[in-house]
Amino acid sequence: MRAVLSVASEVAPLVKTGGLADVAGALPAALAAEGWAMRTLLPGYPAVLEAARDGREVWREERLFGGPGRVLAFRAAGLDLMALDAPHLYLRDGGPYLGRDGKDWPDNPERFAALSWAGAAIAADGLEDWRPEVMHVHDWQAGLAPLYLKERGGRARSLITIHNVAFHGLADADRRAALRLPEAGFTTEGYEFWGRISALKAGLVWADRISTVSPTYARELLTPEFGMGLDGVLRAREADLAGILNGIDEAAWNPVTDAAIVRYRAPSGKARNRAALCAELGLAPPEGPLCVVVSRLSEQKGLDLLLAALPRLLAAGGALALLGSGDAGLEAMFRQTAAADPARVAVRIGYDEALAHRLIAGGDAILVPSRFEPCGLTQMYGLRYGTLPVVALTGGLADTVITANDAAMKAGVATGLQFHPVTAAALAEALERLAALHADRPAWTVMQRNAMRHPVGWAASAPAYAGLYAELAAA
Ligand code: ADP
Ligand code: GLC
Repeated sequence: MRAVLSVASEVAPLVKTGGLADVAGALPAALAAEGWAMRTLLPGYPAVLEAARDGREVWREERLFGGPGRVLAFRAAGLDLMALDAPHLYLRDGGPYLGRDGKDWPDNPERFAALSWAGAAIAADGLEDWRPEVMHVHDWQAGLAPLYLKERGGRARSLITIHNVAFHGLADADRRAALRLPEAGFTTEGYEFWGRISALKAGLVWADRISTVSPTYARELLTPEFGMGLDGVLRAREADLAGILNGIDEAAWNPVTDAAIVRYRAPSGKARNRAALCAELGLAPPEGPLCVVVSRLSEQKGLDLLLAALPRLLAAGGALALLGSGDAGLEAMFRQTAAADPARVAVRIGYDEALAHRLIAGGDAILVPSRFEPCGLTQMYGLRYGTLPVVALTGGLADTVITANDAAMKAGVATGLQFHPVTAAALAEALERLAALHADRPAWTVMQRNAMRHPVGWAASAPAYAGLYAELAAA
C-alpha cells in the first residue's frame, strides 16, 4: 500500500459540523480499495482525545504556537487517526470552531496553523515507520500546510480540496510572525488577501494540485459570482484544478440495513416510515408530498426562499418537516411558521443524527434550495432512500440529480427536480410541479426506483483521487 496523509479539522464519527467530516471519514476506506493507505491528522478536541486514550506518541514539539504539542496515533471507528494533542489550543468546552457564545475562537488562526504545521512536519520528515508520498489537506483549516511543507522541503507532494470557498481563514496581517509565515509570501501572488492573511489562499497558491467536490463547482469557482474573491487565484491555476464528486457513506445510509428506520428495499416500504414520521412530528399525513429538510441554517442553504415558497407547497396539498440549526433569525422564523400551522409544518431545531435518518426515510421529497453548494450530501441520501430531491441547479446538486423534464420522463430516467434561477418563485413552481408528479403514482414510482438505483457511493471518485495522488507522487 502507498501512504497518504490527510489533514482535516473534522472527521466523522468523532467530530462533525458538516459534510467535510463525512468526506474525511469516508475517504480512507474508499482509497484503501485503490491501494492507498490513508492516515488522518485532526485536532485533539476533547472527544478526539477520549478516543485516543491508548494512542502512541509519534511526534512532538515543545513550543507549538503557545504550548507543547504532540501527535497520538490511534485507531477508532475503523480509521487510522492521529490526534494533535495540544491542550492550550483544543482542550475546551464548545465546538471545533466556535465557543459557547457562538463566536469564532479568537485564536482560530493559531489553532489551525498548529494543525497545518504538524501535518507539514509529518509529511516532510515522515514518522519513524511511515512516510507519506502525498499530503491531502481540506479547506482553510489545513490551508497553511502546503506552504509550510514547501518551506520545509521534502519529497511529499500536496493536494488541497476546497469543500467551501466561502470560508477563507482570515487573520490580521500583524500575526504573520506568530503564524510562522514567510515575509516574502505576504503579497497578492501569495497568502495576502485584501491586506490580511488568508489560510485558504495560501493553500490554493502553494499546493501542488487543487480539487473541489463536484465538477460543476470546479467550473463555478472560476467565476466572480461563486469564487468569493478567489476566482482570480483559481483561474491562474485552472490547469491544476479538478472537480471530483463526493460519495456518501453507503453503509450508514442504506434503507435496507438502517437501524433507525423501518427498513425497506422497494419504494412501497416508505409508507410505514412516512406514517411513523407524521405521528412522531404531529403532522396530519398530507395528500400531497411530505417534504423534508436536513440542513445547517445559513445563507448558503437558501432556506429563506423556502419560507417564501412554502404557502404554495401547502396549497398544493404538501407538508414540510425540517431539522436544522444555525442562524438564529432563520431558526426563529421556522419555529414561528411551525407554531402557526402545526398540522402541516414541523420544525425541529438542533442536531439529531437518528431523526435525520427518519426524516429521509419517511419523506416523499427532500429539499435543497442552496444558493451555492460545492457538493451536498443530503440530496444523495434522498436518492438512496427513494426520497426525491428538489434542488437548486448549482454545484454538486447539478451533478447528482436528473431533473424531470419531458426528455428525462420519456426516457424514464428522471430522479428529482432542479430549479433555476435560485429564487422563491422558481422554487414555488418546482414544488407545484412536485405535487403534480406526486399525484401521478406510476410516474412517481418510476422516479423513486431510478433514484434508488442512482450510484451515490465512492466507486467512481475513489479512483479519481488515487489517480491524482499517483500523478502527484510521480511529478
Ligand atoms: P454542509 O457540509 O454544507 O453542511 P452537506 O450536505 O455536504 O452540507 O453535509 C451536511 C451533513 O450534515 C449531512 O451528513 C447531513 O445529514 C448532516 N446534517 C446537517 N444538519 C443536520 C442536523 N441538524 N441534524 C443531523 N444531521 C445534520
Ligand atoms: C461543504 C459544502 C458541501 C459539501 C461538503 C463536503 O460543507 O458546503 O456542499 O458536500 O463540504 O465536501
